[in-house]
Amino acid sequence: MPVERLQKILSNAGVASRRSAEAMIVAGRVAVNGKTVDTLGARADPDRDEITLDGTPVLRERYRYVALNKPAGVLSTTRDDRGRPTVVSLVEATGATLHPVGRLDLESEGLIVLTNDGTLTELLTHPRHEVRKEYLVAIDQPLGKRGRERLVRGVRHEGERLKADAVQVVSPSGSPEQPDPRWLLVALHGGRKREIRRMLSVVGRRVVTLRRIRIGPLALGMLASGESRDLSPEEVEALYEAAKRAATRPRGSMSPAPDMKREHPHPIAIDGPAASGKSTLARALVERFGYVLLDTGLMYRAVALAALRGEVPASDAATCAAIAREGGLALAVADRETRILLAGEDVTDLLRSPEVEASVSAYAAVAEVRRELVAQQRLFAAQRPCVLVGRDIGSVVLPKAPVKFYLHASEAVRARRRGEQAAEWGERQSASEASRDISGRDVTDSTRAASPLVVPEGAIEIDSGELDADAMIARAIAVIEEQTT
Ligand code: DC
Repeated sequence: MPVERLQKILSNAGVASRRSAEAMIVAGRVAVNGKTVDTLGARADPDRDEITLDGTPVLRERYRYVALNKPAGVLSTTRDDRGRPTVVSLVEATGATLHPVGRLDLESEGLIVLTNDGTLTELLTHPRHEVRKEYLVAIDQPLGKRGRERLVRGVRHEGERLKADAVQVVSPSGSPEQPDPRWLLVALHGGRKREIRRMLSVVGRRVVTLRRIRIGPLALGMLASGESRDLSPEEVEALYEAAKRAATRPRGSMSPAPDMKREHPHPIAIDGPAASGKSTLARALVERFGYVLLDTGLMYRAVALAALRGEVPASDAATCAAIAREGGLALAVADRETRILLAGEDVTDLLRSPEVEASVSAYAAVAEVRRELVAQQRLFAAQRPCVLVGRDIGSVVLPKAPVKFYLHASEAVRARRRGEQAAEWGERQSASEASRDISGRDVTDSTRAASPLVVPEGAIEIDSGELDADAMIARAIAVIEEQTT
């Protein structure tokens, strides 16, 4: 590969847009072969040089971006338990574990992007960043001007306001010439479930076919049904830019409205022992500030799951580290939370099983595993405003985080919560089992040699047993607001 400008290498690697990459370079966060490069204009060879962002190699995982013309009847998921075709199964595999960016309903067709770049996925699907999308829609009966105007003003359906940006009568090929009254071009920013079908049902029309023909700058073009093609670096860059521009647009009818006027501090670190209320606080904060949540415990759990499947004991540190590094662990953001993929399989819902629960602490104590996961966590945090939850976030992963919380709660309180959680996950646990579980976990997490659980320097300590959830959240928000510029 030819020698290229550093910002281009970073943007092609999917780390950031070219402009953000320049800012990262100037901020001194990028190094080539171990030497910090903080002026623009430097070049490097992506095949030979080791390029790092905040100390983490950026080119280890090459990203792939694919546009697919999804046929009706194909699921917009990675896998299907019942073996039905999915958008991923239609794309030629190259080793990259792709996931769809957003969704198209089962019976809808048209343009969908697949990638393994979680940053772009998150940018394009985040309610704050939604880019304009266009759909060619066939309806059962013509819709007059009044009806079309109603859709643009917005209609209510099941308590939600649904609204199109524009509705135009077009020909079946989408052209404004020779319009056919039963064909509409509908543009919208929203991504609500079945939004177009629902808004048309409010004006008494039924959708016969629905085809997405554009996502921001990317058009479906001549792709035949079921066909896919790789995007060019310029197209990827254009998608990044469109998503970022969308983020600065007035929000109009979109929901829910995170407070965007001011610059809130990020990343936010939350640490504390098991069942101390970290997730409750983190979820409230990402909702409030429009950030993304990474529960790093899930990453340790995914390594434990992969190791258990491969019958690799925690004592085999080298193989455990290889699992963390090369086992196909990937993060995908959906609804502000991070899902965990293992070789393309979304395993998030398997990570609370009793087997994983019982062994995860041992795998989390392996220093080589930690080194690998910490690097991945830092890279994640460098790419978007986020809240990271774990045991070593404020102390090891993000020691410079502008806001750090450490949550306490007595063992009795935490054992009660753990019992309640276990019941929610469909397991039965007696009070004494829950208590043993919690204290066993605490001992391993606090006494291990590698990154033991500690109160990080500068952390704000909150006792979540003394405060109820609302009071804890209000207190944390007040701390963040104080630091908001
Ligand atoms: O929060 P949790 O129960 O999902 O965490 C699972 C295990 O991983 C637990 O033993 C603590 C450990 N862990 C860790 O050591 N460091 C982190 N940053 C997150 C979790």
